[in-house]
This record gives sequence, C-alpha cells and structure tokens, in this order.
Amino acid sequence: MPTITLNVNGNERKTEAAAGESLLSVLRYRLGLTGTKYGCGEGQCGACTVLVDGGATRSCRTPAEACAAKKIVTIEGLAANGKLHPLQQAFLDEEAFQCGYCTTGMIMSAHALLARHPQPSDEDIVDNMDGNVCRCGTYPRVMAAIRRAAGGKIG
Ligand code: FES
Ligand code: FES
Repeated sequence: MPTITLNVNGNERKTEAAAGESLLSVLRYRLGLTGTKYGCGEGQCGACTVLVDGGATRSCRTPAEACAAKKIVTIEGLAANGKLHPLQQAFLDEEAFQCGYCTTGMIMSAHALLARHPQPSDEDIVDNMDGNVCRCGTYPRVMAAIRRAAGGKIG
C-alpha cells in the first residue's frame, strides 16, 4: 500500500493510504483522529468538515493524497496551551449541541468563516453554515455561538 505524508495539526504524519482513500478515513482510522465524524459520506451533511489550507473541506469526498502538500487542521488541532479555542468555548457557553455529532463540522466551518469574515452578519453565518446539518435542530444556538465567538478575538 502506498505511503503518504500529511501535515496534520502542524505535525508531519506518515501513513499508509489506499489509492483514492478519503481524507476522513485516513484521519479517523489510520491517524486515530476520531473527532472528525462520518455522517453521510456523500458531501451533503458537513459532519466531516476539516480545514485544508484554511478552507472548510468535506473530508469524506477528498482523497487523502490530494492533501499531501497542504496544511490540514482538525478539531483536535484547535485547542492550544490547555485552553479551548474561542469557537469551542463559545459552543460550550451557548450549549450549541445536543448529541454533538455535527459539532466538529460546525466548528470547523465556522472557523473558516471567521477567518474570512471576522465580523459576519447573520446572513453571512447562515450562508456559510447552510451545508452543515444538525439532526438535533440546534441551529439557533449555533448562530448564537458563532456570534459570541465573533464578538471576541478568534485565534
Ligand atoms: S460525511 Fe462528509 S459531508 Fe457528510
Ligand atoms: S447536536 Fe445532534 S446532530 Fe447536531
């Protein structure tokens, strides 16, 4: 099986990967980064969202080998120095989850939004988060969490 090297959360990680294997599969099952979730597997739900070179990316539909020269960030890479990332803290403070299955993808999508628009309008937030599905219906709290994070400094 081919070996690839990925830059994940600032670390070079060498791993085997089958030809065409999804980034999601490599992250979860080869690198043990299970914070990124498998939802639909078809690019429709957003549960598998990670950052690739800062952009929100559906890892279920992205071949791992296509990310070899790029910087990948997963939910495990957000907290620093024992402190949650402001977006993680805002989601906690607003209790913006129920089962939590969608939360990783929500936070990573919101991260990409705030990197582009540090002070997004509600319309910007809705437009950006439209592809992230929450079966528990926590959308109003997700909105509140993103507003809260945007009100502070996003690292
Ligand atoms: S699991 Fe990737 S979009 Fe649903
Ligand atoms: S909190 Fe359950 S799917 Fe969103």
